Amino acid sequence: MCGRPLRARERESEALSAQLNAALTIAAFAGSLRAGSYNKMLLRNAQALAPAGVSVAEIDISDIPLFNADIEDPPPPPVARMREAIRAADALLIITPEYNWSMSGVTKNVIDWASRPPDDSCLDDKAVGLAGCSSGYFGTARAKIALLPVFVFTGMHVLDEPMVHVSRAAERFDASGTLTDEQVKADMRALLEGLAAFARTMKGT
Ligand SMILES: Cc1cc2nc3c(=O)[nH]c(=O)nc-3n(C[C@H](O)[C@H](O)[C@H](O)COP(=O)(O)O)c2cc1C
Repeated sequence: MCGRPLRARERESEALSAQLNAALTIAAFAGSLRAGSYNKMLLRNAQALAPAGVSVAEIDISDIPLFNADIEDPPPPPVARMREAIRAADALLIITPEYNWSMSGVTKNVIDWASRPPDDSCLDDKAVGLAGCSSGYFGTARAKIALLPVFVFTGMHVLDEPMVHVSRAAERFDASGTLTDEQVKADMRALLEGLAAFARTMKGT
């Protein structure tokens, strides 16, 4: 019989299995600042829907100022913390509202700050997944389309399938903000599993 000894193959397979089961972190933000935001609600339900070994870490964007090149260096502390959270994470999840058929200004502002400085951007080569809630009937599909060129220019790699577009958001959560819609739960599970697998592929594991 030819080939490597059984023990070597077992060790290789154990190493592969350890890599596949290694803990992953998905940094996430919701592009809405209002207290009762459905996008924030979706984010806060994500951890419970993530696969084993995957943690969803919310980035606090509440104190990030409007982008202004005059205050870029040194960056405001909330910006530095946001960049560090994205840099340290294996993937980024953006949960954005749709405003006037595009992403919210809050979402764009976070991306603009994160993309600087361009030669050391925390977004470069980052795996990114997308979800969003709207009060209308089309979810946030048009906001996603508006984000695609932004991903190209900033060097992010978007998981194009699945994306989660939640329409008529008020009907999907209970009064305490718990996601109650089984289809949206299944869609979010699929997105988080897909994003974790995508991040592992990008890391070469
Ligand atoms: C300025 C503005 C523009 C909006 N434009 C859209 C839109 O283009 N499409 C849509 O489905 N909903 C639109 N909406 C409604 C949002 O979907 C709704 O306010 C949603 O709840 C915002 O997300 P949030 O709950 O996380 O704050 C808009 C709301 C605002 C305030």
